[in-house]
Amino acid sequence: MAEAKGKVAVLSGDGIGPEVMEATLRVAEAVETSHGFKLEWKKGLVGGAAIDAKGKALPDETVELCKSSTAVLFGSVGGPKWESLPPNEQPERAALLPLRKIFGLFANLRPAVLYPELTGCSPLRPERVAGGFDVLIVRELTGGLYFGQPKETVKKGSGERAVDTMAYETHEIERVTEVAFRAAEERKKRVTLVDKANVLESSLLWRKTVKALAAKYPGISLDFIYVDNAAMQLVRDPGRFDVLLCENLFGDILSDEAAAVAGSLGMLPSASLGQGRFGLYEPSGGSAPDIAGKGIANPIAQILSLALMLDMSFGQRAAAESIRAAVAGAIREGWRTADIASPGEKSQGTREMAGEIARRIASGSGKR
Ligand code: IPM
Ligand code: MN
Repeated sequence: MAEAKGKVAVLSGDGIGPEVMEATLRVAEAVETSHGFKLEWKKGLVGGAAIDAKGKALPDETVELCKSSTAVLFGSVGGPKWESLPPNEQPERAALLPLRKIFGLFANLRPAVLYPELTGCSPLRPERVAGGFDVLIVRELTGGLYFGQPKETVKKGSGERAVDTMAYETHEIERVTEVAFRAAEERKKRVTLVDKANVLESSLLWRKTVKALAAKYPGISLDFIYVDNAAMQLVRDPGRFDVLLCENLFGDILSDEAAAVAGSLGMLPSASLGQGRFGLYEPSGGSAPDIAGKGIANPIAQILSLALMLDMSFGQRAAAESIRAAVAGAIREGWRTADIASPGEKSQGTREMAGEIARRIASGSGKR
């Protein structure tokens, strides 16, 4: 077996996080063996689990573990147990947002893919999603209303005044736009900038900056859409889009919409990237406390996040492709967890689904 080429911080978190992570690590083992490489997997605490054990959602030792790693494989955080904490201490906000900021993860890739065999899972009418679709949302992740200053609540008269700031600088727009153009080069070569340029100053700067950068990518077609229209088009004809480039909040909202239209949150991975190879990879769905511990959660979002990680942080493209092919093969041959089973159809558990995917990789049927 080849030497260890890097270290992965494994942060399972809460809810279904630990069980889908355990299942995913079996797939990781299968792909390491079949592709002849070995990574070092190191577990750390995050989210509610970290609050319970260490008193905070992102303990210093977890940050240190991530700093010493090439990538973070993240599960999901949050749950009813921690919902009564002050908003700033809740797992989602106190773990995810600082991780994005500390590691400069400015580009968030959220593919929303509807497999042709699963069009029945989409809430859209069959004729709108016939043949499935494949849309990539590239969301700016460290700017805009999430982090812009001022951000505060002050007393005003007999009440209060709260402000969030949507501010962007040219360089912040440029770096995420490069990510979107490069992604489009490997896809259908179309980028759509989502903005609100009829109202927002920051959107005018987005348009100007993205247009100027487009000159560097003559093979890519670029168009623009207002965010309200984009929300509408995503439910009318999601297949018309290739890459949707969004500022932070627009991307947050539209990626949930795209995920819903794609049928199940349990299928969608994501990658958060910065300047170098380091990245954080996580399922797009949440911790799903309602089904946690039952062994029925769909592990595919986590498994496809593993594939993204191997591809983007470790350059193991063939391994990533073999995971994707194994997932597609399992789906094609009727393997279903409860979230993607038709009514009355038999479904498999988390472990069984991951086991089938690992088996396909090991037997080489995961290779294209
Ligand atoms: C997401 C989540 C987070 C966000 C929350 C939990 C802070 O909704 O990753 O999309 O808004 O970015
Ligand atoms: Mn969100």
